[in-house]
Formats: sequence, structure tokens, C-alpha cells
Amino acid sequence: MTAIYPGSFDPITNGHIDIARRALSLFGGLTVLIAKNPRKAGLFTIEERTELILGAFDHDPRVKVDAFEGLLVDYARTAGANLVIRGLRAVADFEYEFQMANMNRHLYPSMETAFLMTGADFYVSSSLVREVSALGGNIDDLVPPGVAVALREKVAKRTA
Ligand code: PNS
Repeated sequence: MTAIYPGSFDPITNGHIDIARRALSLFGGLTVLIAKNPRKAGLFTIEERTELILGAFDHDPRVKVDAFEGLLVDYARTAGANLVIRGLRAVADFEYEFQMANMNRHLYPSMETAFLMTGADFYVSSSLVREVSALGGNIDDLVPPGVAVALREKVAKRTA
């Protein structure tokens, strides 16, 4: 079974890693799948996000990283994947996730979405991490070390 874990990962956080590790222990392998958004450049390029993800997993051969543009179900069909992993942080995530899971199943009936609960210590979004780090706050406990360094470099470049 090929499990895919889609998201923006701009950047990957400890919360994402927690979910991915849980998925790995259940399914043995995982493709972390970066969604390209042509309307939004994001803080990190797709190449930077890919490197940060690979580094965060210490280049674990069970973790693949890929990127896609367009519909997730189209990627899944082509890749022969029908299991999507998503993390749930709190009840506030549920409505959006429920709609996405149902829409994906409507578009691709054999597509299943498995939700894993993010550990309470990791309740944080990439957008909050970006905001706090841009304003000089400490995010070291919230992201892998390579991401913390990359965030500081971005902030330094912007303020240079
Ligand atoms: O990390 P995010 O931003 O919450 O991830 C959302 C993502 C990328 C998984 C979702 O927006 C997505 O699947 N986008 C691809 C386009 C698509 O298939 N849209 C319909 C989903 S129902």
C-alpha cells in the first residue's frame, strides 16, 4: 500500500513529522507530497521544502518526497496510491478535513483518508511558525533543526 501525506509543508514542522512517523510505523513507507500552489509563491521554494523534509527524516529510505500541481486525486491515480494521511490537531481542523476527504472520495471513490492525531505538544501550523519567526520569535522547539536554521536565514535575508 502506498500512503501519501499531502500538504503545503512551508515549512515542515515537528507536528508534520510526528504524523509522518506515526504513519510510517503503521504503513511502512510514506510519500510526503508537496502541493504546488501556482497562485502563492510561499516562503520556501518546492526544492527548499523538499530538502528540508528529506533532512528532517535524515534521508530515511522509507520516506519519499514528491511534489504535485492540480488535483490530489489525479496524482494519486497516476501513482497508484489510494491512502491519504492527514493530521488532525483539534476539532477546528475537522470541518475542512471532512470536506476534503469527502470531495476526494467523490472524485476518486477508492481513495481513503486516514486521520492521525497530532501529539498535544505539536499543536502549531506552518503559517504561525512563519509569522513568529519573521517577527524574531523563537521557534526552535517547533521545527526540526534544519528548518530552524533555514527560517533564520530567510529572516536575515529579508532584513539585510
Ligand atoms: O497543508 P495544507 O495547506 O493544509 O494542505 C492542503 C492540501 C494541499 C492537501 C489540499 O489543499 C490539496 O489537496 N490541494 C490540491 C488540490 C486539490 O486536490 N484540491 C481539492 C481537495 S478536496
